[in-house]
Amino acid sequence: MPISACRSKADFFGFNPNPDGMRFRDLGFGTFLRSGPGSAPNPNSSLWLSFAPLTDGQMQTSTTRNVAMTPTQCPTTEAGQVDANGKPIPYFQKEFFHNGYIKSLKQLVHFYNTRDAFPIGFGFPVTSGHCPPGTTEKVDCWPMPEVANNEDMTVGNLQLTDAEENLLVIALQDMTDGFDPANPTVPGILYKNIDTFTGQCMISTTENASTQGNSTIIPTPTPLTPCASAVCGVQPVPNPPIP
Ligand code: HEM
Repeated sequence: MPISACRSKADFFGFNPNPDGMRFRDLGFGTFLRSGPGSAPNPNSSLWLSFAPLTDGQMQTSTTRNVAMTPTQCPTTEAGQVDANGKPIPYFQKEFFHNGYIKSLKQLVHFYNTRDAFPIGFGFPVTSGHCPPGTTEKVDCWPMPEVANNEDMTVGNLQLTDAEENLLVIALQDMTDGFDPANPTVPGILYKNIDTFTGQCMISTTENASTQGNSTIIPTPTPLTPCASAVCGVQPVPNPPIP
């Protein structure tokens, strides 16, 4: 059986788990340049391959257009909102950033605001699920980055207040443009209607936008399982090396 076939075997649930499991690291652009696992072959390998270690951990990202968009029956991405009668508003939990680690826009803005602000975080190696007692992951403890190769600490401590963070959340929510695929106003452009959401909205009286999703974090193995050779062993290898 070719290796590629073993690497994508469906599990009990019918999903294809990542064959490298906890040994996987998402090197993003770097893996693309190396034509690494999960990546289409790099069409310009001879020109660009040598730049792979400079681009490890870099991700292409979409615009923030419609970043807060949700199905109508679950009108927000943020846990802990209440209506005029104090009743919890059902929410639709999205997964932000390339790996879905961030579960709400509040967490996303708080990340930009405080990522480099705490002693625990980039300066102190702690992995997800292992924030010290007395701290709360994503609130006053940020786990170390998966790929430290392009760490940039110039904009990770914005010193915004809680209220200012909330204003940025509102600004992101304002990116929802209300475009109706059934009635496009630009002549000649027809978009397929998105599928109707048939799942359940989430309701919580205990989670809030800062901590939502924390109850389902799967702690990173300790000691850390080393990076898979299929990812970190492809030449030119990451530099500095990734644990
Ligand atoms: C407070 C200021 C900022 C806000 C509100 C903001 C907002 C966002 C949002 C909403 C996303 C997309 C999340 C998703 O749909 O998954 C995003 C992703 C991203 N932003 Fe920002 N951003 C800010 C500042 C910055 C800065 C200063 C940089 C670069 C120095 C940056 C670089 C990126 C990158 C690279 C991603 C993709 C990350 C990934 O997929 O892991 N952003 N940002």
